[in-house]
Amino acid sequence: MKINRHYLSLEESYLFSEIAHRVSRYTQEHPEADVIRMGIGDVTLPLCEAAVKALHDAADDQAKKETFHGYGPEQGYDFVREAVRDYYASFGVAVDAADIFVGDGAKSDVGNILDLFDEDNTVLIPDPVYPVYRDTNLMAGRRIVYLDANRENGFLPMPNPEQKADIIYLCSPNNPTGAVYSRDQLTEWVRYANAQGAVLLFDAAYEAFVQDPALPRSIFEIEGARSCAIEFCSLSKTAGFTGMRCGYTVIPGSLTRGGASLRAMWLRRQTTKFNGASYPVQRAAAAVFSPEGLEGCRKNLAVYRENALLISNTLRDLGIWHVGGVNSPYIWMQCPNGMSSWDFFDLLLEKAHIVGTPGSGFGKNGEGFFRLTAFGSPEATREAMERLRALLA
Ligand code: MLT
Repeated sequence: MKINRHYLSLEESYLFSEIAHRVSRYTQEHPEADVIRMGIGDVTLPLCEAAVKALHDAADDQAKKETFHGYGPEQGYDFVREAVRDYYASFGVAVDAADIFVGDGAKSDVGNILDLFDEDNTVLIPDPVYPVYRDTNLMAGRRIVYLDANRENGFLPMPNPEQKADIIYLCSPNNPTGAVYSRDQLTEWVRYANAQGAVLLFDAAYEAFVQDPALPRSIFEIEGARSCAIEFCSLSKTAGFTGMRCGYTVIPGSLTRGGASLRAMWLRRQTTKFNGASYPVQRAAAAVFSPEGLEGCRKNLAVYRENALLISNTLRDLGIWHVGGVNSPYIWMQCPNGMSSWDFFDLLLEKAHIVGTPGSGFGKNGEGFFRLTAFGSPEATREAMERLRALLA
């Protein structure tokens, strides 16, 4: 019997598990510490009323023989796929409901999509990066080429036409840096992907934070994307679904590689290995896209945006270089006084009882940087910023 030895090349634990472990050790040793969590991007506001009502109604459906739902379609109920289609249309993007697959969140789909691709592909991944892109490819033993994101390019690296790539990952608004690609920049990426015959895996999980109408929210706003791109999106941050688990993946029917339709391959994969998100969760997801649902989500997003602004303004006052915080819930800051990411993590935890994410956990170019999230309560965010001022002023 042989194990998948590629697992042995991974860091021992996933970044956010490692942070949770360190924080739990700290709070056990210091039970009096009032720790403010700005590490993992987990939301704190409850679901919008429309989603809660839909959940209750769905529970009632499951209680009656006439309305009970067993297995649903693996690719999602039509009522969600059509709601997502209409949501895209609301910002001017035409997507066919047949191209939309409802799943249990972007993280699973981003990992599982690799089932469609040979192990012998070259993967282009920005550094720093959401660890899931890197680790899922390492697990399969694929060759990864890292693309330097740094202060000089505003953490928005652009393609090098000489670089060969088969699979490309982009996330905009970016996790972890909060930087957002412009339309022209994404157009260059789409041209590059098409020229390479590559597949561009575009993570749009933070699209709902984009307020500037000049910035794209979907890769399908870019000409040529339908012949190279797959888009992943999630209700986690848009609608507070981190604990509910629901997302969607869009694969254009026109996207083919090696003579095969990637949409047909994904359908085959999902029908074989997945039984769909649960019926009550899909009912709640559809309710998120109703006018009342969108309004409720907008109110919650406004709270997180205010937090982001406060964090960004505090760092500006302290003279600390950072990106993100505008059109994004993440703020990516340079550690003060040339500190390393983990040293700053320890300092913040011990002296200010604030948890953030060390930039080095996202890749070598993250060393010396640190990520804060805007998903806390306004009270906790205000308190954290006061503590940060007291520590660093
Ligand atoms: C993060 O903090 O980077 C995200 O919450 C992780 C995720 O979405 O899986």
